[in-house]
Amino acid sequence: MKPSLLVEIPQDNIKSYPIYIDKEPIKNLAEKLNKLSSNRKRLIIISQKVYKLYKKDFGFSKDEIFILKDGENQKNLCNYQKIIQKAIQLGLSRKDLIIAIGGGVVGDLAGFVAATYMRGIEFIQVPTTLLSFVDSSVGGKTGIDLPYAKNYIGAFYQPKMVFINLNFILTLDKRQMLSGFGEILKYAFIEGSCKAEKSYLLLEFLSIAADRILDNNMNLIERLIKICLELKISVVTKDETESGLRKVLNFGHTYGHALETITHYKKYTHGEAVVYGMMLAFDYAYKTKMINQTYYNLAYDLFKKYGYKSIKPVKYDKDELINIMKYDKKAYSGKIIMILPDKKGTVTEVEITDETLFEM
Ligand code: GLY
Repeated sequence: MKPSLLVEIPQDNIKSYPIYIDKEPIKNLAEKLNKLSSNRKRLIIISQKVYKLYKKDFGFSKDEIFILKDGENQKNLCNYQKIIQKAIQLGLSRKDLIIAIGGGVVGDLAGFVAATYMRGIEFIQVPTTLLSFVDSSVGGKTGIDLPYAKNYIGAFYQPKMVFINLNFILTLDKRQMLSGFGEILKYAFIEGSCKAEKSYLLLEFLSIAADRILDNNMNLIERLIKICLELKISVVTKDETESGLRKVLNFGHTYGHALETITHYKKYTHGEAVVYGMMLAFDYAYKTKMINQTYYNLAYDLFKKYGYKSIKPVKYDKDELINIMKYDKKAYSGKIIMILPDKKGTVTEVEITDETLFEM
């Protein structure tokens, strides 16, 4: 099978990897994974939901799997330790393999296990949610959350390959799709800052094709996934470890992460939190005259089209939110750093003073 896309890290060819996007039955995906790991031991870390739905198709043996309950609050130190113990129990060596099958939580946690077990073992990403198709499975961000800070422990560690099977979309619920659209909308608002070779006009595409996309038109969804991934690849291949350009991918994430943290990773999906983060960024940019009303309205129209009415979370303690934002990895010297829209489809990094953020 030919890869649909390649992530080529220029400074280090060993880290380059293919992304496969296919529509074949999940059974075929299981066969491919078996072939890839035929001479090796493997540890498969799989989301509970996905395991229940597809265990017959995968046919994995009970010994080689670690089933992870669903939810962002599972991306924790305790599960990290349990998985490491399981790897030791299986006698996994550096030559063996870890396979992550699930959404961003599974991919981030499994990736971090792979990055750290014996100082690094190969791992394959098999994302199963729209959000992990377009974002978390690619780019090598791995990690776990602390109770007061998201992704505070982690590593940049690239997978060996990524297998996207579009059939997984068919068993996602509405909320999981909505979460994926959150990150997809992000790409539309940052497209012009991604330094991609092509122009995809993602804002326009999302707007014009909204009804058909929301109706699960697979060809359009496939095109959408490819566009998002091409934008992401453009960014991460130029700045793998987020020293500059990659920060644009954090649009909506400073406030988004604070919302996830303040609610103990239980109330919002990641995509929902990112959308509320982008809404706050649009409000702030409009209030400080960085963007005009036409663009502001266009952004809110798009949020609405993809299921996000502007019911913003307002009931949390603002001082606590601000404190969490100062803990964010993007913050330094006690200042909040946010990525804000400055023109249609582009963003810029801005230092914010606490007092002005929540004022309207
Ligand atoms: N999800 C943001 C990044 O990969 O940098």
